[in-house]
Amino acid sequence: MSQLVDRFGRRVEYLRLSVTDRCDFRCVYCMGENPCFLPKEQVLSLEELAWVAQAFTELGVKKIRLTGGEPLVRSDCVQLVSMISSLPGLKELSMTTNGSRLTRLAKPLREAGLNRLNISLDTLDAERFSALTRNGKLERVIAGIDAALDAGFQRIKLNAVVLKGQNDAEVLDLVDFCRSRSLNIAFIEEMPLGEMDERKQSRHLSSDDVRAIIQTKYPLTLSDARTAGPARYYDMADSDCHIGFISPHSHNFCHECNRVRVTVEGRLLLCLGNEHSVDLKAIVREHPGDIDRLKQAIIDAIELKPLKHHFTHDGTQVLRFMNVTGG
Ligand code: GTP
Ligand code: 5AD
Ligand code: SF4
Repeated sequence: MSQLVDRFGRRVEYLRLSVTDRCDFRCVYCMGENPCFLPKEQVLSLEELAWVAQAFTELGVKKIRLTGGEPLVRSDCVQLVSMISSLPGLKELSMTTNGSRLTRLAKPLREAGLNRLNISLDTLDAERFSALTRNGKLERVIAGIDAALDAGFQRIKLNAVVLKGQNDAEVLDLVDFCRSRSLNIAFIEEMPLGEMDERKQSRHLSSDDVRAIIQTKYPLTLSDARTAGPARYYDMADSDCHIGFISPHSHNFCHECNRVRVTVEGRLLLCLGNEHSVDLKAIVREHPGDIDRLKQAIIDAIELKPLKHHFTHDGTQVLRFMNVTGG
């Protein structure tokens, strides 16, 4: 059982480990148009990432999700998966990816021990995809999803951030896409990370509205499916696809939060929506090999975990962009 219990009795069993802030896309809700990426020496090395993962699993963390930026732009990512997947005590190693490199990497990732994939896909319209990602190619992502299915990944989940007036008319098409390939999908309310402006505020759409759109075609019943993540899932009568909703605004899930994040710079971030953090990179670099010191720093840090985020779709924001945090 995890030794990481916070002041509110929440047990931390899930680590989101960001392996790079870089990405081959520039999604409008994730980063600015001309992002400035971190120099290599500020980013944790392969060995440092594996070391941090080991410390967390020794403390009882059972699930690790590799995030980015886009994890697969890092050339040693498959090797990292092999190193982490063999850690004793780990029950699930998963990754959130934009899918653009899966045609080549899905099979090696599976062979290296990756258990699950979440793939971001907000639209099935090539032009809109290019606009939302600022130049991404939709066909590469669809081919990547198919490669992941061919490689034998199961319970693949698509992530769709729904933006009013942009892709909300495609909600049912996305559901049908998932039905045709037996995928799960999570519809996500945009979180106010990075620069907020009126344009961003006016494109907010609540999960309840998205659910209502789906119900016009497919009646939904609340599911007991859980992934230890923030999504609440629903079932359709005639399909095995689960439809999830991640609703940081309308259905805050902080009271059951079970996770922490480590950013690409080795900052242990205790909540996505707060700045409370501890610099693990300094410990790893000043005391290489001293896993007990690293574990103690993590135990102490859990004390700082705040009760909840304070996001609102028209107000509070966090200045950090999503690509440095890993979502
Ligand atoms: P599984 O449940 O394992 O499938 O993963 P997940 O849904 O937790 O992770 P994923 O990387 O697919 O993230 C989906 C969305 O959930 C992203 O928009 C994340 O930013 C968001 N998310 C994940 N964890 C948290 C959290 O603790 N707080 C908030 N507000 N959002 C989160
Ligand atoms: N709000 C909500 N979800 C976001 N993601 C990226 N930026 C945001 C945001 N501002 C999602 C991506 C990806 C996951 C890691 O986070 O779509 O699926
Ligand atoms: Fe890249 Fe994902 Fe951010 Fe889009 S949301 S820019 S795919 S990291």
